[in-house]
Amino acid sequence: MDIDLQLFKNIMAESRHNSDLLDSFSPNQFKSKERLIKHIRDQLILKTSSEIVILGGWYGSILIPAFKEVKKITLIDLDDNVIRIAKNRLFNHYKNVDFITADVFDLGKHFQRVEKSDLIINTSCEHMRPMKELNLNTKAYFAYQSNNMLSIEGHINCVYDLNDFKKQLPDNAKILIEDEIKDDRGIRFLLIGKYE
Ligand SMILES: C[S@@+](CC[C@H](N)C(=O)[O-])C[C@H]1O[C@@H](n2cnc3c(N)ncnc32)[C@H](O)[C@@H]1O
Repeated sequence: MDIDLQLFKNIMAESRHNSDLLDSFSPNQFKSKERLIKHIRDQLILKTSSEIVILGGWYGSILIPAFKEVKKITLIDLDDNVIRIAKNRLFNHYKNVDFITADVFDLGKHFQRVEKSDLIINTSCEHMRPMKELNLNTKAYFAYQSNNMLSIEGHINCVYDLNDFKKQLPDNAKILIEDEIKDDRGIRFLLIGKYE
């Protein structure tokens, strides 16, 4: 990937006073996100016409630049502060990204956008109720990550292993890839598949 100098400049300016943004670019974040990106690439899931929704996407730090060639990326997060920073200070030069402040479980008019997308990503599953509770009617691909880092603040729904994580998916979620990524503080679990 070529260096996007404008994005680099934006990240450097914002991270001078925003350590949370810096955390979103930590070595552990790169390790787990790059594994997800590699699997999505290897499975040939994306085309330039694809639409991606990222749930609980934080700043979209690594995933938005990684998938920037697609038609549309929608990032949804509960925290209006991270949405405003991502939209206005980091990715203001990206024309194909929509940023939405919302609870994933209270999406209102945005629910259809999730169902109609080609790929649903959620690397924050440990922060929220199980994905099967979304009750999506979709044929989309999905890439979900959770972890076993129970002692971290905000982690309300950690899992012990991949089997535990699989129980959080609905019956019509066919799993194509399962993977584990070791972190300094525990293990991240990754499930990639398709709703049938
Ligand atoms: C710490 S961050 C990302 C952690 C994740 N493990 C990762 O590496 O991408 C968790 C994000 O999930 C968001 N979040 C938590 N619950 C949510 C919900 N119900 N709907 C939308 N966003 C949510 C938070 O606002 C926060 O930006």
